[in-house]
Amino acid sequence: MCSVKISSKGWKSAATGLAVLMVIVVQVLGLEVGWPQDSDSLRTDEEIAKQEKIYGSRGGDVPSGYVTNRALSDYVEILPYGFCDALASLSSSDRWLDIGAGAGQAILDYYAPVGGAPPAAKCTGYRGRARAVAMSIEDRRTEKWQQQAASLGDDRIRYLSGKRLRQYSPEELGKFQIISDVYGGFTYTEDLSQFVEKVLSLLEVDGIFYTMVQRVHLQHGNDKPGARYETEIVDAAGRDVTVCSWLRKTTCALVGCESKSEWDAPTELINIRKVCSDVSVARVKLLQYQAGNPPGRRFQLEP
Ligand SMILES: C[S@@+](CC[C@H](N)C(=O)[O-])C[C@H]1O[C@@H](n2cnc3c(N)ncnc32)[C@H](O)[C@@H]1O
Repeated sequence: MCSVKISSKGWKSAATGLAVLMVIVVQVLGLEVGWPQDSDSLRTDEEIAKQEKIYGSRGGDVPSGYVTNRALSDYVEILPYGFCDALASLSSSDRWLDIGAGAGQAILDYYAPVGGAPPAAKCTGYRGRARAVAMSIEDRRTEKWQQQAASLGDDRIRYLSGKRLRQYSPEELGKFQIISDVYGGFTYTEDLSQFVEKVLSLLEVDGIFYTMVQRVHLQHGNDKPGARYETEIVDAAGRDVTVCSWLRKTTCALVGCESKSEWDAPTELINIRKVCSDVSVARVKLLQYQAGNPPGRRFQLEP
């Protein structure tokens, strides 16, 4: 029997040789070093397909957290201060877009006949004057919507479905003085920067986008210890970035944030006023998407 002794120097050069060989094999087989990313994107596709099922769910199959019929009074409670007054200030030539409107109940309440639905608490004087557009991926119109749309006539209220916000052309939608979003596209989209850029492109200068997002790192930093997060943004070094500080990088936009650390889920109420036309939103790329109501999302700020 003979044994071969290899010195530590010999081990090192053998290991280096093996590494070089592996690189050559990978290149010869045409494999990309980035394959884990491919499996990540496969996983994202699966999650997006699951999310699609939530949008398409009907009757008893609708998951309990997927609420699609919030009233205007709920919008007034959930959206930032100022939404009610802004709604009340609209004239008959103005336009309001509700992105992620579900059944469009908030718009029905806005147009409710006097003596109909009770006015939203702490908010009166908003009765329907402006033209209102409800947008939802899936069609959740009710009989009540059909009746009210027919009785108002003249396209005062419109319901758009079958597509996501990003798939509409500017001509199809026109411009708006107010855009709202309550647990809608802002909470569900996989492309947050494209979504915000599209919203701002649809606003008239001086128009305002009212939205909110729950389970995020709060701007004022008073998150409850051990809070669970659903939407996270990190910088290139993996450090947390708040949604508000990311939004405040947007050009031509004044961003207001109200942090609700006392709510069950830490929530940021956000309003964005468009102050000039040259809007540009800092890019964030999707790192993770997990279907749900709402979904879990992790984004990274691009340099
Ligand atoms: C949980 S429901 C909320 C409905 C309503 N805002 C409410 O509070 O009752 C989510 C809504 O957002 C819509 N949605 C999600 N992502 C969207 C997108 N990118 N564009 C348009 N609508 C979207 C869904 O189709 C659905 O109508």
